[in-house]
Amino acid sequence: MRVNEESEVVSGFAEALRGKFEQKTAQVGVIGLGYVGLPLGLLFASRGLRTTGFDIDSEKTEKLERGESYIRHIPASSIAEQVKRQRFRATADLTRLREMDAIIICVPTPLDEHREPDLSYIRNTAESIRPELQPGQLVVLESTTYPGTTEEVVLPILERSGLRCPVAPYRLEERVPAGEGPVQADFLLAFSPEREDPGNPTIATHQIPKVIGGVNAPSAAAARALYQQAFDRTILVSSARAAEMTKLLENIYRCVNIALVNELKLLCLRMGIDIWEVIEAAKTKPFGFTAFYPGPGLGGHCIPIDPFYLTWKAREYEFPTRFIELAGEVNTAMPSHVVAAVMDALNRRKQCLRDARVLILGVAYKKDVDDLRESPSLRIMELLTEQGARVDYHDPYFPRLHKMRRYDFRDKVSIELTASALAGYDAVVIATDHSSYDYPFIVEHSRLVIDTRNATRAVTQHRERIVQC
Ligand SMILES: NC(=O)c1ccc[n+]([C@@H]2O[C@H](COP(=O)([O-])OP(=O)(O)OC[C@H]3O[C@@H](n4cnc5c(N)ncnc54)[C@H](O)[C@@H]3O)[C@@H](O)[C@H]2O)c1
Repeated sequence: MRVNEESEVVSGFAEALRGKFEQKTAQVGVIGLGYVGLPLGLLFASRGLRTTGFDIDSEKTEKLERGESYIRHIPASSIAEQVKRQRFRATADLTRLREMDAIIICVPTPLDEHREPDLSYIRNTAESIRPELQPGQLVVLESTTYPGTTEEVVLPILERSGLRCPVAPYRLEERVPAGEGPVQADFLLAFSPEREDPGNPTIATHQIPKVIGGVNAPSAAAARALYQQAFDRTILVSSARAAEMTKLLENIYRCVNIALVNELKLLCLRMGIDIWEVIEAAKTKPFGFTAFYPGPGLGGHCIPIDPFYLTWKAREYEFPTRFIELAGEVNTAMPSHVVAAVMDALNRRKQCLRDARVLILGVAYKKDVDDLRESPSLRIMELLTEQGARVDYHDPYFPRLHKMRRYDFRDKVSIELTASALAGYDAVVIATDHSSYDYPFIVEHSRLVIDTRNATRAVTQHRERIVQC
């Protein structure tokens, strides 16, 4: 089978499915209405496809049905509009998956306590689809995972329904001989990685090219026809495994490069060189350099986690992923470096960390988002507390903290960021550089500022109080 640039190769019901996507008569189901699934579902709805969002969390589906949002950067009005036009519905009733033409899976893929892939969400979701799976449906996995998950984990579960979707290689160029016979599939299966950048106002979801790989040619072509309804550009690759690996390459590239600048920052601090100045200068090179920035450590659902999916899989091939391990080591050590910098700065002022009052600015893992998954701020707070410091925090997106899998800061409430409050702390640590912070004000009223993000670069007064770290 071949799939050319126009995805002309489609067989049997896959052809009909493509027609349904193009005429917008298809029903699209999105499972997992979090940071990825909700905007994706709304995008399909906004393009005129009747879309149903599925989630096991009925609190979320009920909110959506009322036209309410629970993700800060997704306005309630955009949900209410699609609900009103009857293009978007949300439900916790997974038996309704049988009504869908396409089912897209966007559930979490964390690491377990041994830092190994936790595929339980993907498995549970596939198990929920299995009894509802209908001949002619297209299933697409979007969750970030190691190469092979779609074929080795999702496919066998779905095939226990008695329906078949054979894995069959296909070629992308029209002139390459087919080599394989037509695929006799009852349902279709593909992988398409999510490339959402939450909180980034400069690029809309539909503008981010969509990479797609099918387990066979009809699956690839049907998935492409689906995504073409919503995305400006689709990029077909030759297998689901290649699409899975594409996403990991992107995130490993980021993780390794961040580790590199973090390491160089530590060296520059010793050498008395400003790493930020160096990066700005290097950035002017019009080729061969992409800027990455140091910080207090890695955070978020993706970059600290995804690379270890590949490390785990690579063990099956007895292949050590040394770059990933090294990057993980450097990035994981960054919060300890911040704590050492606070200790050192206090020491120079004849103070010690024990009993010192320390304020953390920003607990979100990056600026301007209401997401604190894997946030290095939490690790810094934990380490400071272990050293006997009295730690408070401020974050405009988190008025209070709740119990998390790893941390329990239940008693902590975001302090009011006033001049007198700032003056009461021995050290103020800028962990997340939210745009809403008034940095000159913070420096003016603080005794000591530890800046992990170069957020105070434009502050001209009281620079002696700032420690770059
Ligand atoms: N957040 C990002 O920026 C981002 C970017 C790219 C890729 N990803 C990947 O996308 C996937 C989803 O991430 P997310 O950030 O949207 O997660 P999330 O935690 O925000 O949302 C996941 C949703 O899935 C629901 N869910 C869990 N198990 C379910 C089940 N069995 N059936 C139905 N619903 C279920 C949860 O209730 C939750 O609402 C992950 O693999 C992640 O690595 C995330």
